[in-house]
Amino acid sequence: GDGNAGAAPSTFVVNSPNVTYTDAEIKSNYTYRTTSVDTDANGNFVATPKEVLYDFKVERKVPKVGMMLVGWGGNNGTTVTAGILANRRKLVWDTKEGHQEANYYGSVVMGSTMKLGTDAKTNKEINIPFHNVLPMVHPNDLVIGGWDISSMNLAQAMDRAQVLEPALKALVKKEMAEMVPLPSIYYPDFIAANQEDRADNVLEGTQASTAHVEKLRKDIRDFKANNDLDKVIVMWTANTERYADVIPGVNDTADNLLKAIEQGHEEVSPSTVFAVASILENIPFINGSPQNTFVPGAIELAERHNAYIGGDDFKSGQTKMKSALVDFLINAGIKLTSIASYNHLGNNDGKNLSSQKQFRSKEISKSNVVDDMMPAVADNKRALDEYYAEIFLGGHQTISLFNICEDSLLASPLIIDLVVITEMMTRIQWKASGADNDYKRFHSVLSVLSYMLKAPLTPPGTPVVNALAKQRAALTNIFRACVGLEPESDMTLEHKLF
Ligand code: NAI
Repeated sequence: GDGNAGAAPSTFVVNSPNVTYTDAEIKSNYTYRTTSVDTDANGNFVATPKEVLYDFKVERKVPKVGMMLVGWGGNNGTTVTAGILANRRKLVWDTKEGHQEANYYGSVVMGSTMKLGTDAKTNKEINIPFHNVLPMVHPNDLVIGGWDISSMNLAQAMDRAQVLEPALKALVKKEMAEMVPLPSIYYPDFIAANQEDRADNVLEGTQASTAHVEKLRKDIRDFKANNDLDKVIVMWTANTERYADVIPGVNDTADNLLKAIEQGHEEVSPSTVFAVASILENIPFINGSPQNTFVPGAIELAERHNAYIGGDDFKSGQTKMKSALVDFLINAGIKLTSIASYNHLGNNDGKNLSSQKQFRSKEISKSNVVDDMMPAVADNKRALDEYYAEIFLGGHQTISLFNICEDSLLASPLIIDLVVITEMMTRIQWKASGADNDYKRFHSVLSVLSYMLKAPLTPPGTPVVNALAKQRAALTNIFRACVGLEPESDMTLEHKLF
């Protein structure tokens, strides 16, 4: 403890003149060290170390947070809900292998650690749970709600999803049966026709409208008020939509997008309408599917309202492996020449993607070769990747990787991480040191979420980082900076120079 009664618990304090704690805030004066590179007259690089001083401010009080899922009755929606209930109630259930306890494996925030430093006496590494680096929300405390075009309560929807063990389902069934998704907006042209038979919980109107935006805004406000919440985060985990055409005058600017919604233009997707409603409520909105929800007009609207957005497409099994393996090959100095991929999707997501227009979204976000068969693999998605690389003196290395995973069990912890990290970002502010201006928020587009997302959205004009290790380092080091800790360094000179 840090001795601050009333403040969020933390397992360490930073002992530095650059870091101050009050009951309400942690403030850090942080020196950001980079290298600025010029080219001299001979064409050689000249690298100059550069320092920029930032003041970070972190609000310590952990708010009461609601997570609203669009597509709550789907595989991911039901699985993450049951998973949180199971953890909250510390459930233990029987499987054929024995007792299984609820856990948060697969969540960076809940399951992984970071190095705090080395023990002053023994020189041994001290690691802390990632969750403890800043005063983050605990997923057990999230209040869950959301929308679905299917009216099934969450207990029925969980059965339909065929993801969880019967013994676990029995333990959460009663609570889940009381959870019923709010009616949603359904524009049939955007998802596969084969989804129509589940669309029995829809608002009137099959095209974008101001009435839809206003209804969704009211849903968010009501959820917040009814559950006595400080904050809400909205996440799209509904079906993959087809791409929306980006048309000048329609969705290219914030004003045009709002006008297009008012006029019921057919190129405005349900996910974009949800994004707009969230942005106008100043509620963070995350897109877990591959489509282009964030048309330029939506990004501009988020910037205008200082609202946080993040996307696109949960990076669960195969793509995470891919970005780790590519990282390794490239950093090893091996020349990767091709990757061929085969995906075998078995659940409702696969059924929706068996329609060509929706599959295009996946294709664009993954650049993959996918088989559109609908076999009986249920949530156990299969993926086979072959990596072909050129090695020393014209030799070759072929890596064949077969990945089977229960996809919703990988995606659910990502949903948790996205919510917890996004909420944390709403409590971090910065300013240039010494400047007398007010503290600011980060850019509206939260690229710090890249680790969890396949096609990371970044602020317009900024580069996308795809390497998994770098994405994680950005996240950890930004959080460390907020409490005045240096970036994680693996130099370990303390073990090399003595
Ligand atoms: P799912 O098909 O089981 O669930 C989607 C749910 O969304 C369904 O219950 C459906 O009724 C609902 N829905 C469709 N349109 C809606 C709308 N306009 N408003 C409200 N609800 C609507 O799919 P699953 O497996 O849960 O995946 C969800 C999304 O996440 C898909 O787009 C998928 O591509 C994406 N994703 C999933 C990953 C995973 O590992 N499970 C990984 C990467 C992306």
